[in-house]
Amino acid sequence: MNTSPLISSSSIQNILTPLNVKTPFELHIFNEIDSTNRFLKEFSTENRDMIPCCIAEMQTKGRGRFGKEWFSPFGENIYCSCRFKFSTELHALSGLGLIVSLAILAMLKEVIAMDDLLIKWPNDVLWQHKKLCGTLIELVETNEIIIGIGINVNSILPPAPDPNKPWCSLYEITGVILDRNTLIAHLLYTLQLYVERFMQYGLESFIDEWDTVDYLKGQKVSILNQNKAITGIAEGINNLGQLILVDSERKMHHLTSGDASILTFL
Ligand code: BTN
Repeated sequence: MNTSPLISSSSIQNILTPLNVKTPFELHIFNEIDSTNRFLKEFSTENRDMIPCCIAEMQTKGRGRFGKEWFSPFGENIYCSCRFKFSTELHALSGLGLIVSLAILAMLKEVIAMDDLLIKWPNDVLWQHKKLCGTLIELVETNEIIIGIGINVNSILPPAPDPNKPWCSLYEITGVILDRNTLIAHLLYTLQLYVERFMQYGLESFIDEWDTVDYLKGQKVSILNQNKAITGIAEGINNLGQLILVDSERKMHHLTSGDASILTFL
């Protein structure tokens, strides 16, 4: 295991304070928890003005998309969830997951000058075709959402990684053990900015930014959703965050969710 400073509330707050976040974060930090998303799901937000945020050194039941497990060893990576209130209609949240990944990219560019990351629709952050971050968004109550973020920071790849699930870490990319407190503070700051802009101006205001990091754009892809696969050329996203796919008969499909894989690099 790599050694990096443990996650500390005061270190995070010390970096956050001068950044002047609009709404402060209420940090709940654990050495071990089943899932940071699960913790916030059962957290009462009555009479709270701050944004509850749960961060853990390890998760025993880290949750991924499609019921998969999220690799969450102790002291190496970031497992972080925030619970945001929203005042818009539920349908206006369509595409929120995409902007969370954009926020992660913006943070990594700002803090460690990484500018070669791409996003595989809907929200996997990739480096050289390998997964670096994942996000899981869950709706709670009628006007609150939990945004869960996992970033592989200091983990070292096993000697024989599973070729079907290629992943990487910032350590593998940079060769440097990174301080997670700095990354978390900047992540929270950027996430809040992006979520607020999304609530105010919608996904439309992020489409240009998305286009520059769209991993699937122009590629022949297969999207698997509920055991059904659909194949075509990916042509970007629309204002709802749906993937635009054109099949071999030139028929256009607008897909809301699914697991994407590239069949041919064009
Ligand atoms: C994915 O499958 O790509 C989504 C992974 C999301 C993992 C994060 S880690 C913090 C938060 N807590 C969880 O249980 N899951 C999310």
